[in-house]
Amino acid sequence: MSLSCLGCNLKYIFVAVLFVSFTTLMFLTFKGVMLRSTVVPIRRNTVAVLNRTNPSKTGWREHKFDMRGNDVMVFLHIQKTGGTIFGNHLIKDLDIERPCACTKESRRLPKKGWSRVCHCFRPDSSRIWLFSRFHLGWPCGLHADWTEHKECVPKYMNKREGRNKLRKFIYITILREPVSRFVSEFYFVLRKGDMWRGATLRCNGRSPTKEELPPCFERENLSDITFEEFIGCPWNLAFNRQTRMLADLRRVNCYNTTGISTEKRGKVMLESAMRNLREMAFFGLTEYQEESQYLFEKTFGLKFHDPFTQFNLSETTAGTKTPKFNSSMLSQIKALNSLDLKLYEFARDLFFKRSKRFRKTDRISMKKRLS
Ligand SMILES: *[C@@H]1O[C@H](CO)[C@@H](O)[C@H](O)[C@H]1NC(C)=O
Ligand SMILES: *[C@@H]1O[C@H](CO)[C@@H](O)[C@H](O)[C@H]1NC(C)=O
Ligand SMILES: *[C@@H]1O[C@H](CO)[C@@H](O)[C@H](O)[C@H]1NC(C)=O
Ligand SMILES: *[C@@H]1O[C@H](CO)[C@@H](O)[C@H](O)[C@H]1NC(C)=O
Ligand SMILES: *[C@@H]1O[C@H](CO)[C@@H](O)[C@H](O)[C@H]1NC(C)=O
Repeated sequence: MSLSCLGCNLKYIFVAVLFVSFTTLMFLTFKGVMLRSTVVPIRRNTVAVLNRTNPSKTGWREHKFDMRGNDVMVFLHIQKTGGTIFGNHLIKDLDIERPCACTKESRRLPKKGWSRVCHCFRPDSSRIWLFSRFHLGWPCGLHADWTEHKECVPKYMNKREGRNKLRKFIYITILREPVSRFVSEFYFVLRKGDMWRGATLRCNGRSPTKEELPPCFERENLSDITFEEFIGCPWNLAFNRQTRMLADLRRVNCYNTTGISTEKRGKVMLESAMRNLREMAFFGLTEYQEESQYLFEKTFGLKFHDPFTQFNLSETTAGTKTPKFNSSMLSQIKALNSLDLKLYEFARDLFFKRSKRFRKTDRISMKKRLS
């Protein structure tokens, strides 16, 4: 009797245990499904972000641009690098499902006169995939630099398209041989009488004070500026412009130069610029238009309709004007742009490493197709 009762108790206990384990199992499985369905996109994103912040030696090599997804291309336009031409290629010349639409509508830009407005929307929504001056009109300040972009772009996009949207910002830029770029900038100032005084140069949430960055030239109209005067201003932002604009300036206390030697400041900026450049999915070089186009197309899996044009020396300001500078002036220019010269050397090396890798892959897939 007691034995059979124990048996029946055991039976109940067995059923109860079975029931509990079954419901627990169901619960866990369900929870797992729930968790996985929410975690997967985030985890994939984290991996991509990790790869981006810990790039291999050559940085990213390939990043098929996801126009329907969350990729936002941010074009950092450094003055006198041919960025306007490249920017126009981006707007007008890409073979994409929904071409950028440029309106006749104009908007007044501070100190820049009238400008066209272009919209580069994703194929299936009114969200934008390109952050560039051509359709947004310098929302992060005139010729904003890396530091300004990092602070401003996410805020701008949140304001425009709502917060809590998953976005991948993909920075791109164009670099140019520094002596040519500098000469071009000098003649630009001569021609326009102005040198981007509207630039906000924000860093750590504010523009530099007059004590931190004194104005170079008091007069409004600079169309009579001499070369000696131009290079005589120690704070001239034309010097090493590419390094400064690509560096994280928060690392050197922004425009406050007290408490750090010029050498140390330069070293930190150069290292930062190199790191930021390497982390860019793509950068082009003015001197290598065809290769820049190839690298862009391979990196993002996008195609341009028209080939990029390599301008002859006789067609550029730098090409025609540089011979006017004698050797001592040229060595002065080089000394004043020594960081940019190092950055450019680094950039060219990286640029050809990246393109070589793509060419190698091309050859392999060509062989496969032929065999
Ligand atoms: C991240 O990098 C690793 C190793 O370099 C690679 O195996 C992996 O596919 C990369 N992941 C993504 C999402 O690119
Ligand atoms: C600047 O001065 C030059 C002559 O010195 C003149 O031709 C030009 O119109 C001036 N530009 C502006 C914007 O005032
Ligand atoms: C610049 O930085 C130093 C410390 O490095 C600080 O004492 C000084 O107040 C700063 N100057 C300005 C204008 O913020
Ligand atoms: C550039 O110069 C080469 C010869 O030096 C010439 O064949 C070519 O047509 C020129 N390109 C342009 C765009 O003028
Ligand atoms: C170069 O030109 C500048 C100004 O035109 C002149 O003062 C200097 O003596 C020249 N230097 C040489 C080495 O010719």
